[in-house]
Amino acid sequence: MAGNWKMYKTPAETSTFFEKFRPLVAGSTHCEIVVSAPFTDLQTAVEAALSTRIQIGAQNLFWEKEGAFTGEISCPMIRSTGATHVLVGHSERRQYFGETDEAVLKKTLAALASDLTPIVCVGERLEQRESDDTELVLIEQFSKGIAGLEAKQFARIVIAYEPVWAIGTGKTATPEIAAEAHQMIRNEVQKRYGEDQAARMRILYGGSVKPENVKSLMAQPEIDGVLVGGASLDPVSFGSIVNY
Ligand code: PGA
Repeated sequence: MAGNWKMYKTPAETSTFFEKFRPLVAGSTHCEIVVSAPFTDLQTAVEAALSTRIQIGAQNLFWEKEGAFTGEISCPMIRSTGATHVLVGHSERRQYFGETDEAVLKKTLAALASDLTPIVCVGERLEQRESDDTELVLIEQFSKGIAGLEAKQFARIVIAYEPVWAIGTGKTATPEIAAEAHQMIRNEVQKRYGEDQAARMRILYGGSVKPENVKSLMAQPEIDGVLVGGASLDPVSFGSIVNY
């Protein structure tokens, strides 16, 4: 159960969040919990989550270790904060910052090399779904952005399916629509990495997940977890999503 705070919260707000959130998930041993925070909150978040089961993630990375790349943050830098996860290829990165599938692959490889767990995001835009291209888009994002990984590397990633039309819009994909897309992705995994890997692969659903709809999404065997934007900002609502 992963949260994506996007560009929200200062370190002070991060501390306040964790004071309320910690006790709410203290007994939540049924799942892994990840909060992906802005770079400037990572250290505070890691300290606030010490000796809990909550893991902290970043939301982006640059693949070089260091160098003249003004404004960028590397995986060793992220790792040094104590963060363990990182989002890669979120649709907002693709849409507003021109991130390509090729960049997604480079970033995923860099994250793995630094022992960070990449949560690799894929998903179609509204016009692609309306023109019946969802499967085509998912296959392309998979083949260019993920399939370049070796089997050993692939075994260490998490995939998030986030239909762009459902992100921040209040329009959730129905559990059936989400499960169908997860199945398309899992088919590609099976073709490239085999049946075992396909069965083991964790695919999260993201896009307007709320305490009210998480249960029906998680009832789909195809959906292994969720990636939550807006509703992860509030400790009570993210807590009740985690404890669906
Ligand atoms: P949302 O965002 O839950 O606010 O729709 C999901 C995401 O972008 O990860």
